[in-house]
Amino acid sequence: MSVLEIRNLRAGVEDKEILKGVNLTLDSGEIHALMGPNGSGKSTLAYVVAGHPHYQIYGGDILLDGESILEMEPDERCKAGIFLAFQYPVAVPGVSVANFLRTAVSNVRGYTAQPTEGENRGAVIGSNLMPMREFRKEINDKMKEFNVDPSFARRYLNDGFSGGEKKRTEVLQMAMLAPKFAIMDESDSGLDIDALRVVSEGINKLATPERGFLLITHYQRLLNYVKPDKVSIFYDGRIVMTGGPEIALMLEERGYGWVEKEFAGAAEPVA
Ligand SMILES: Nc1ncnc2c1ncn2[C@@H]1O[C@H](COP(=O)(O)OP(=O)(O)O)[C@@H](O)[C@H]1O
Ligand SMILES: [Mg+2]
Repeated sequence: MSVLEIRNLRAGVEDKEILKGVNLTLDSGEIHALMGPNGSGKSTLAYVVAGHPHYQIYGGDILLDGESILEMEPDERCKAGIFLAFQYPVAVPGVSVANFLRTAVSNVRGYTAQPTEGENRGAVIGSNLMPMREFRKEINDKMKEFNVDPSFARRYLNDGFSGGEKKRTEVLQMAMLAPKFAIMDESDSGLDIDALRVVSEGINKLATPERGFLLITHYQRLLNYVKPDKVSIFYDGRIVMTGGPEIALMLEERGYGWVEKEFAGAAEPVA
């Protein structure tokens, strides 16, 4: 049982405050959907939790199981069990999906090369990478489990991938890294209905009692496939309302216009 706690978090770029006091507690086993209009700061929140160096923290804290992660580098946060699926994943021609995943998994699991002692002093045992045979078995199993075509592993990461293929990669990455908390930023945007199913099936399979999900989404359609425990409305850098799935349905019906009318300029979070 783990808990990710965002406490009165304020952050931004240069002197522009984007996050204006975010409070959110995510427990393992919980799916929390964060919905809000474009430009409200949802992606910024995801980046700040992941430790993107571009953003400055002005106040508040982010705690993983009671320990602040603010001083941790992005890769340390990843090792600690925080995973971020980007809204716009970058293509990396020349690096295959398999190589990328092997490196990521090896890093997260702490594989390190060991210098030998004694007779063979100076030689190196092992490597920074998970042994190929072990890795191959694991990735093949996961690809089977998540209905990913085996040829996929050899393709260059996100290079010429369709929206759905990028999402499959994310799901596969999440399955391999087994994070405690996964933040998915707009994982439904630009997806056709089949791809949406792939993502939501992946999330549903991975949403075990040991793992918490923060699903950032503009539309409620992903939530037709993934049932959130909580839904929060994010507006102007903070959460203005939290409730159950009925909130998502209300947003679907009423749009975001009323949110703006109701909460524009509010200095403090209202709910
Ligand atoms: N790196 C950045 N530099 C300058 N402004 C930024 C940066 N990132 C985000 N912003 C601004 O912060 C606001 C929130 O953006 P974002 O977090 O992407 O919102 P959302 O994901 O909800 O659409 C926007 O006005 C955006 O222009
Ligand atoms: Mg965004």
